[in-house]
Amino acid sequence: MDKTFHITTFGCQMNEHDSEILAGALEDMGYVQAASRDEAQVVILNTCSVRENADKRFFGTLGQLKRKKKEDKDNIICICGCMMQQQHIIDTVKEKYPWVDVIFGTHNIHRFPELLKSVVQQKKKAVEIWEDGRDIVEDMPMKRLHRTKALVNIMYGCNNFCTYCIVPYTRGRERSRKPEDIVREVENLVSDGVLEIMLLGQNVNSYRGETSDGENCSFAHLIEMIAKIDGLKRIRFMTSHPKDLSDELIDVFKSCDKLCKSIHLPVQSGSSAVMKRMNRHYNRDDYMRIVNRIKSAVPEITISTDIIVGFPGETDEQFEETLSLVKEVGYDSAFTFLYSVRTGTPAAKFTDQIPEDIKHERFNRLVKLVDSISAEKNRAYEGRIEEVLVEGKSKRNENTLSGRTDGFKLVNFPGDESYIGRLVKVKITEGKTFSLEGKIV
Ligand code: SAH
Ligand code: SF4
Ligand code: F3S
Repeated sequence: MDKTFHITTFGCQMNEHDSEILAGALEDMGYVQAASRDEAQVVILNTCSVRENADKRFFGTLGQLKRKKKEDKDNIICICGCMMQQQHIIDTVKEKYPWVDVIFGTHNIHRFPELLKSVVQQKKKAVEIWEDGRDIVEDMPMKRLHRTKALVNIMYGCNNFCTYCIVPYTRGRERSRKPEDIVREVENLVSDGVLEIMLLGQNVNSYRGETSDGENCSFAHLIEMIAKIDGLKRIRFMTSHPKDLSDELIDVFKSCDKLCKSIHLPVQSGSSAVMKRMNRHYNRDDYMRIVNRIKSAVPEITISTDIIVGFPGETDEQFEETLSLVKEVGYDSAFTFLYSVRTGTPAAKFTDQIPEDIKHERFNRLVKLVDSISAEKNRAYEGRIEEVLVEGKSKRNENTLSGRTDGFKLVNFPGDESYIGRLVKVKITEGKTFSLEGKIV
């Protein structure tokens, strides 16, 4: 009988990509993917720590696995990811969930096959956490989630220490991959049928690669190198910190056809005072200057953002500034979050925490505004013809396909399977709040 595995991924694209590597390692070891967690012998939970509800969902899911372990002690339960880089979480797991078999962190996922082998062979628990990232490990096998689009890490870690954020503690200091290694990976992906890549980093604008000749390579230059790869159609990236966005990058938006005309530019708040307490290293004027520079250089660009509501000390007036900034920029979409206290971050110790009911009330007002602007932006697409990379069938309807435009808008349209993985022209018939409807022309 086949040995089977199942991975549950919480959190961002970094974790999604790490799960692709874990799945690749398992397939290399002769495991096959199970249809569900219940059916799998090796279960992995890849955790996220960014907000409290991510922690809660993890512990909820982990609790359910106790029965699975009881039913068959040969089932192997593995946990990894950002939460495991925090000592208080490891302590809780050891105390309350002693039946977990494998625990590892974000810096040593390449060690997973060895850890799993030792558990299988010696029937002993394996716990291994590295405090920081050592040398970058290249050429790990990978089982990709999608056929025609792929995630490519260009750097690891974060040096920014925004006062609310746990990521620098769970992912360590910034480390950039060598440009040649990245180009080689993308070449291999393209020869495997990939048309679109998403370059990943917590702050891609501070990418500093070193070529084999010892030359520095900026993020903008890296994009130019990658764009030369024949057969690659689209390049995206995530995420760029406004403080490091260079004129050089804006120029590449203009000169490089393959670079998709969309940017995720997290603002977090509309108030300069809050931005300062968040340690964001820009103020409202700086941010607006960057947005206006991008818009005038690339008028068709779509802009999305992240916003935190109820950061400690946020006054009504400061929250109003967030609303007014959202209107002023006119985001195509925005991810909105209730501020969540993260143990170990500076903001967790701020004494002026905002009461939950006020946070929720502000949050609801913000979401309403963001949605109405998204709907208005999307309605402006009605009648236009957009190029769409068809990703698959829509989740809601068997006979509907879905894909993304160059500007990252989700489009649903009637069509059969033969279009999946292709770039097609779609006429937009309706702009809704979160997606566009269309038909192939
Ligand atoms: N590196 C990326 C963000 C990674 S985390 C960047 O700087 O843009 C994704 C988003 O989660 C952040 O942009 C922020 O809006 C949100 N976030 C991070 N920590 C949070 C916290 N403690 N409470 C609420 N939202 C948080
Ligand atoms: Fe967190 Fe700030 Fe780093 Fe983004 S830039 S990962 S928000 S510390
Ligand atoms: Fe990503 Fe969550 Fe870690 S957002 S970097 S998986 S804390």
